[in-house]
Amino acid sequence: MKFITTEDYYHMSRVAANIISAQVIMKPSCVLGLATGSTPLGIYKQLIRWYEKGDLDFSEVTTINLDEYKSLSPDNEQSYRYFMNKNFFNHINISKSKTHVPNGLELDEKKACSEYNAIIQSVHGIDLQLLGIGQNGHIGFNEPGGAFEKETHCIDLSESTILANSRFFKSYDEVPKQAYTMGIKSIMQAKKIIVVVSGNNKADIVKEAFFGPVTPKVPASILQLHPDTTIIGDKDAFKKVSDLI
Ligand code: F6R
Repeated sequence: MKFITTEDYYHMSRVAANIISAQVIMKPSCVLGLATGSTPLGIYKQLIRWYEKGDLDFSEVTTINLDEYKSLSPDNEQSYRYFMNKNFFNHINISKSKTHVPNGLELDEKKACSEYNAIIQSVHGIDLQLLGIGQNGHIGFNEPGGAFEKETHCIDLSESTILANSRFFKSYDEVPKQAYTMGIKSIMQAKKIIVVVSGNNKADIVKEAFFGPVTPKVPASILQLHPDTTIIGDKDAFKKVSDLI
């Protein structure tokens, strides 16, 4: 694993955006694995800026998102499809038909998951996967204790994740309790992975996930075994590992 220490959130976002734009420039028809959450917002803003300046062309790019809440429709403001359209896709020249997010409205779990696996297979693998990491070590919605060898599956969200995500909803009760997520197996098949971490509240999990044992109790720890993973973090997120990297 490679670590890149940046001054703050803004610089972390620019470094990650630079790596993603290099990927798009080197292979215009690339497949990007994308994440939602707070951390990637600065990256999407930066990529939009470079697109507007004429430096980037997304017309041939395909995207595969990590996850979606079960039961939320694309026009629900809390759905991840809505998030991606609002914060990224609506502002660049990507063809929406090439952007993929699990179908939250498909309540038949088996069908929803096998359809998403078929999409991942049809694009012949992800060139660059962007990940955030939960304070409990989740990646996508792969919560602690799940199996490493899973593909897309339906997950019961952990209490801590529901609590963390309730900041985006009117109340705790409104947070969906289940989600569809790409599995660790599919994430690990990405050719290149970049993980972005920012802020003091990620400092403990950064140490545990990347310098502790590889264990399903900390899903992100599996990334230690990926051949091309780069962790981009600001000083606060790296404060407990600065002498190790
Ligand atoms: C989002 C996702 C999650 C987030 C993680 C960190 O698609 O899959 O794993 O990356 O919860 O979220 P933030 O960036 O909000 O701290």
